[in-house]
Amino acid sequence: MTSITITRPDDWHLHLRDGEQLRAVLPHTAKQFARAIIMPNLKPPVVTTDMALAYRARILAALPAALQSRFEPLMTLYLTDNTPPAEIIRAKESGVVHGVKLYPAGATTNSDAGVTDIAKCYAALETMEKSNLPLLVHGEVTDPDVDVFDKEKVFIDRILTPLTQRFPNLRIVFEHVTTRDAVAFVTEASRQVAATITAHHLLLNRNAIFQSGIRPHYFCLPVLKREIHRQALLEAATSSNPQFFLGTDSAPHAQTSKENACGCAGIFTAHAAIELYATAFEQAGALDKLEAFASFYGADFYQLPRNIGHITLNKEKWAVPEQYEFAGEKLIPLYAETSLGWKMV
Ligand code: DOR
Ligand code: ZN
Repeated sequence: MTSITITRPDDWHLHLRDGEQLRAVLPHTAKQFARAIIMPNLKPPVVTTDMALAYRARILAALPAALQSRFEPLMTLYLTDNTPPAEIIRAKESGVVHGVKLYPAGATTNSDAGVTDIAKCYAALETMEKSNLPLLVHGEVTDPDVDVFDKEKVFIDRILTPLTQRFPNLRIVFEHVTTRDAVAFVTEASRQVAATITAHHLLLNRNAIFQSGIRPHYFCLPVLKREIHRQALLEAATSSNPQFFLGTDSAPHAQTSKENACGCAGIFTAHAAIELYATAFEQAGALDKLEAFASFYGADFYQLPRNIGHITLNKEKWAVPEQYEFAGEKLIPLYAETSLGWKMV
């Protein structure tokens, strides 16, 4: 196969940041995707509908002229211990907020204001369940006694399983799943539960972080896992199960914040997102499954129309740049200075 044409995809999990950083990264996403679910972990976090509306306006204003009206940001709220049910209702009624993100406090970048005890959120979750507003979950426990590679599995056992029992009609997206345990959980759950899978977790296992030295640009959260888990993710992504769909978790940090004694978690993949997924699907011999994963199942889960336009990828080698401009700093993309075999036309 030398070329594939698919319905224009959406990114169901994206970090765009704000200000000049937003202006630097947004075109990468908007040239490929029609829509994206925008993560709310700004400083300060997007905790109200008014903040989400203001952030949405900043994103639209940051779109380059050529991409105006070609890209729609789908906003989210950042769940806290104190999110009032009335705020959930406002969010739903706004028509622009499509989910509420649960960050366990301390689990990842800008999660300090996140949830310290899920029981504090029961009233908000009940309102979400009633008003059909999905919960988007960073599924890792923060208990320092739990091994970093087990945080996802323990989260399933301690938090997610009880949550699905307590709120059986709450729609849940288990974000950026990284383990076969998470794949099994989602597969066995009701159709109210879905998951996003990143390109980097499909392409890499944890060896990448320690390839003849410590490689900060392969550090993200949840951290890359062993090969058996990568295989389980590939199988899920290519299985035609509509519970699994594309979410890049593209998470830009300046080079100085990554190459640091305490480097930030996050891998920037927006520069080549669909090409990276095509690479993973081709390796699995399942390019024919890419379109539904990238362009259908997410829209269906979010109860939004599928896109009408198309994109074409050619089997063509191109060199990933060494860096991109990032608000006066440098942004190192995944696979910088190496070549990819698929290129969007
Ligand atoms: O690697 C990550 N980066 N994981 C997250 O959960 C957050 C993200 C970020 O915002 O940088
Ligand atoms: Zn994320």
